[in-house]
Amino acid sequence: MKALVLAGGRGTRLRPLTHTSAKQLVPVANKPVLYYGLEAIREAGITSVGIITGDTGHEVREAVGDGSRFGLEVTYIPQEAPLGLAHCVLIAREFLAGDPFVMYLGDNFLVGGISGLVSSFERGGYDAQILLTRVAEPQYYGVAEIGPGGEILRLQEKPEFPASDLAIVGVYTFSPAVHEAVAAIRPSARGELEITDAIQWLVEHGYQVHSHLVEGYWKDTGRLQDILECNRMVLERVEPDVAGTVDQMSEVTGRVVLERGAVVENSVLRGPIVVGADAKITSSYVGPFTSIGPRCVLRNAEIEYSIVLDDSRVEGVSRIAHSLIGRNVEVSRAAGVSNTHELMIGDHSKIQVKA
Ligand code: DAU
Repeated sequence: MKALVLAGGRGTRLRPLTHTSAKQLVPVANKPVLYYGLEAIREAGITSVGIITGDTGHEVREAVGDGSRFGLEVTYIPQEAPLGLAHCVLIAREFLAGDPFVMYLGDNFLVGGISGLVSSFERGGYDAQILLTRVAEPQYYGVAEIGPGGEILRLQEKPEFPASDLAIVGVYTFSPAVHEAVAAIRPSARGELEITDAIQWLVEHGYQVHSHLVEGYWKDTGRLQDILECNRMVLERVEPDVAGTVDQMSEVTGRVVLERGAVVENSVLRGPIVVGADAKITSSYVGPFTSIGPRCVLRNAEIEYSIVLDDSRVEGVSRIAHSLIGRNVEVSRAAGVSNTHELMIGDHSKIQVKA
């Protein structure tokens, strides 16, 4: 069994963060989303992994390397343009050879791992297996229509009028039969070779496609509220670990991870939170479900339910919540008594200020 991890594509919904950076590397509890997937693959006993990369390939390579850190052997497969999930299977043909494989979308976050999924696929002898989960807005996903006996009737990619609330989760298992399917389908209206269409092709041509309902937690981290929710979920289970230093004036409660070299002075930290290595928090409040990246500086600031990426600075601002702040960002109070907001914001940013 091999794994094919998709880490190319465009991160349009998380712009401007993903203009230049890979959306699969946005951190959840200070660890890239992609790493959780790679760890789940290894836990399932798979070691041979192909990673599809796009424009941000250099960054993905830098973060994952040869995979040995994860106990994996990684082969990189560059994709010339994001031509669709089924296109990724087409270009990975040589790597996959005649082996069955798990296809894992690099921006998907699945709690509970994939070992169960892999063994049920192997036991069942299916041609393909998909995971489904109930969602509030199925029109943003691949959607399955299921018959009374649990059989798949029809799969549609992002339908305007969804036939059910069952979304297709971005973790699939395939036998080599999928290669025939991806070669047979044509690009969709949005110009992509859809894996959903390839699976529908398998269903129509009498192949055994099994579906399994996921009860556990799953998120496609492509949108702000989803990545903040993932962060909350992971932080809720984090093991407290204070390797940094906290002065006597500070108050630390709940699950708090303070990485090596982090310094907390005269501040209140209410877990669950994680503070990255060499970050400095002075006279500030950091509230529940917040991840502060390495080397960030917080001074006279209040923040909660947010993610701040590496090397950013928040000074004299209260209170920030439900926010995702990129790398090397500076958020500070304007000088003087002026009531104005002074902004220098990148393209496609989204700022909500008090009126
Ligand atoms: O997250 C689950 C959903 O993922 C499914 O319900 C949909 O059926 C499926 O099509 C997919 O939809 P998305 O629109 O969310 O896919 P996205 O374009 O975000 O791509 C998913 C991952 O695959 C992401 O890590 C980027 C990567 N990718 C994507 C494309 C289109 C590639 O590596 N190459 C590509 O050509």
